[in-house]
Amino acid sequence: MIDCLVLQTVSEHIIKAVLFDLDGVLVATDHLHYQAWSALAQRECIPFDDEINQHLRGVSRRHSLEIMLQGIDRSYSESEIREMLEFKNALYCSFLETLTPSAVSPDVWVLLDELNRQSILSAVVSASCNARVVLKETGLIDAFDLVVDGCDVTRSKPDPQGFLLAAERLNVSPADCLVVEDAPAGVEAAHRAGMHVVIHQYERIGVTRCIR
Ligand code: BG6
Ligand code: MG
Repeated sequence: MIDCLVLQTVSEHIIKAVLFDLDGVLVATDHLHYQAWSALAQRECIPFDDEINQHLRGVSRRHSLEIMLQGIDRSYSESEIREMLEFKNALYCSFLETLTPSAVSPDVWVLLDELNRQSILSAVVSASCNARVVLKETGLIDAFDLVVDGCDVTRSKPDPQGFLLAAERLNVSPADCLVVEDAPAGVEAAHRAGMHVVIHQYERIGVTRCIR
């Protein structure tokens, strides 16, 4: 599914680089983020469910926690916030140890081969500071021309900084880039970067569509 739609879009425009989001696009990690946030919410007695989780997709770790704490009738010190972020991340990282190459859809490899064949550059642009760990665990680490992760930027999606940095490092114009994204924050970032976007949600079969 991802290969046909992306390549169709590629053939309609002069695309020189495809920039992939990681979580929820290349690898199904959303449920691992969800489980880690859920454990923190239980520990802190914070309301958390799938609906709230939808607002966390694609946004940074700290921004995710800020969203979870919205409407909570108590304030948290910076050190409490940091401890909560560390708790969530340690749990998430322990879940990542269970990842294997089978977490990558065969479609991804087909698409990467095709991009290579057409001499189209490829990059991962993720809001996650754990992106390189995920890429290593799943065998994808050497499959891209460039990786930009959440620790390479100062402003996370929906800010376009990560996508613009990738275009600059690949030496291509933003207008010649196609972004593959699953989350509203990432789609907004790509639009603000002046790039073409395809929505692809790994864990939501049937919703891939070209929106520009
Ligand atoms: C994004 C995920 O890719 O990375 C978000 O969609 C996550 O759910 C964000 O919060 C930051 O990830 P990490 O691994 O740095 O906490
Ligand atoms: Mg995503």
